Amino acid sequence: MPASPKKSATKKIRIGIIGSGAMGRHRATELARRPGVKVTAISARNPETGPALARELGLKLIPTWEKLLERDDLDGVVNTTPNHLHGPILRRCLERDFPVLTEYPLTTSEKELAAIAKAAARRKAPILRTTHPGLADSSLRQRRKQFAADGPLLLAHFLRLTPGRGARPDVLFNLRLSGPPPLFFVYHLYPWVALFGGVEWVQAGMAFPGLNTGTTAYERFSASVAAPFKQGALAQWTWAGGIPLPGPEESERLVFEKATYHRHNGDWKRADRKANQTFRMPPAKRSPAPEDLFLADLAEPASSTWREDLAPALWATWIGLAAGKSHGGEGRVPSPSWLPDFNPAPPV
Ligand SMILES: NC(=O)c1ccc[n+]([C@@H]2O[C@H](COP(=O)([O-])OP(=O)(O)OC[C@H]3O[C@@H](n4cnc5c(N)ncnc54)[C@H](OP(=O)(O)O)[C@@H]3O)[C@@H](O)[C@H]2O)c1
Repeated sequence: MPASPKKSATKKIRIGIIGSGAMGRHRATELARRPGVKVTAISARNPETGPALARELGLKLIPTWEKLLERDDLDGVVNTTPNHLHGPILRRCLERDFPVLTEYPLTTSEKELAAIAKAAARRKAPILRTTHPGLADSSLRQRRKQFAADGPLLLAHFLRLTPGRGARPDVLFNLRLSGPPPLFFVYHLYPWVALFGGVEWVQAGMAFPGLNTGTTAYERFSASVAAPFKQGALAQWTWAGGIPLPGPEESERLVFEKATYHRHNGDWKRADRKANQTFRMPPAKRSPAPEDLFLADLAEPASSTWREDLAPALWATWIGLAAGKSHGGEGRVPSPSWLPDFNPAPPV
């Protein structure tokens, strides 16, 4: 049983880190440099990066995440493992009342997502926050404000083409370890879910040239997902990865009743019936980092926003998982009733 998440004014918040890869190092370093925090435990399995990070933090390495979650001297943990371990770790955190900040997606299994959604909905559930920026994210707020004047939404289309295969392609381009591309690209689903809410159903198609059916690793992919928001507009996300291009390309189109927006990489255009003009999205203010949102949750559980921020994270993870089911032969997959109601209203 962990310590009470409510921190006294004098005591430091004690954090445990799980994983020692790129994000493990990043989160541990970020947290360790904050004055009110002490990173007090680390568990990792990697024989090189694990001991090295533990040494830098001045800690003894805990061999397994299960052992770390048996400790009772931590106020919260940060889960930075690969995708296939998120679900088991989060379920254990929920069972043991451990506040957790986790890398996304929440899990690679729909059954596990339903269990996580149910456990997190309990009145006394421990804090469960993902590293999505949360609804306080300034760029989301700016977009919501901008689009509200032209709404409602009629159509949304996103395209991302990536020549690269990630820092560890053996993990990323592997269906069993990372899930299908719409799931590991959940951070492309998240902003529109946060802006426009839950969806009615998901239908997807994918191709994996070079797929090894034994190891589930593949060389390159293309994937497309269609889903209508409950608010009434159709969204489509398309990705291709490991493909011949000198660098990544990304674009999105959002068609509203009064205007159409087009973003190519960082450049926006806004068109209406009269003109098509280059447009500057109002600059976003500095938003809190996920580490700071989690520390605020721990310091002031009563005013924490983790529940509001979890709703779009659950929906975005479900869309990624449903895309895998749809591609696997289930066709159009209706959204389940266990997902929280999430239908954000435009600002007035
Ligand atoms: N929020 C963001 O901006 C962001 C950015 C990139 C990635 N991510 C997400 O963050 C997660 C980690 O990504 P990454 O790039 O840091 O990957 P990574 O470099 O592969 O690190 C994952 C770490 O977890 C370790 N691990 C695996 N099984 C473990 C276990 N049983 N117990 C403890 N540690 C274990 C791995 O060990 P081995 O080295 O032995 O495999 C590795 O050190 C992924 O879910 C990824 O999608 C988030």
